[in-house]
Amino acid sequence: MNILITAGPTREPIDPVRFLTNKSSGKMGYAIAHAAADASHRVILISGPTQLDVPDRVDYIPVETTAEMYAVVEHWIGKADVAIFSAAVADYRPAQVPDHKIKKSGETMTLELVRNPDILGSARNAFDYRGVLVGFAAETENLEDNAREKLERKGCDLVVANDVSRKDIGFDSNDNEVLLVYPDHSEGVEKGSKHHLGHIILEKALELVPPS
Ligand code: C5P
Repeated sequence: MNILITAGPTREPIDPVRFLTNKSSGKMGYAIAHAAADASHRVILISGPTQLDVPDRVDYIPVETTAEMYAVVEHWIGKADVAIFSAAVADYRPAQVPDHKIKKSGETMTLELVRNPDILGSARNAFDYRGVLVGFAAETENLEDNAREKLERKGCDLVVANDVSRKDIGFDSNDNEVLLVYPDHSEGVEKGSKHHLGHIILEKALELVPPS
């Protein structure tokens, strides 16, 4: 199978030396990429900046901004049987990025942000993707309801939901505990290492590939 995976945070420049980002480590997406490469699938890993080693035998495409990730996904997704969007993409980016470092001046400063494109939300329509589509949902409340709403709105076959208000799992942790939300039911996966969950999430996604 051809498997496309997005992972890690994005970086949205404010000026040449500053950027907006988030706490994503990339560990969950890289664990899925590892599992897929170990099982001899062809993997394209499209990743924002992380501290992680790139798994062997994956085609790795590094990106920084959401706009770059969007363009790379748009280019490659047509070849994928399964697309797994685990990246923590910035929802907004600075409206203007000067080509010089912003100098401090007044006591306050206002940064204007504009909406980024939703890459996962573009898969079904803008990219006309027909394969298995897996999204992630990082939530701090109403985990299942919010994940199901996302699944429907973005045309996913599966949303992997995790509660990021907990300190022992999720962002930057080595462990995770997720709820798998399907169109017609949900199932919990008990807490385990991201390595272990990477295998389970991959398996669950592959189960959704229609027999050829
Ligand atoms: O709507 P929300 O950002 O919470 O959705 C999360 C899911 O959407 C994740 O799978 C994430 O990778 C994806 N996403 C995306 N592009 C964005 C925002 C989120 O692909 N701009």
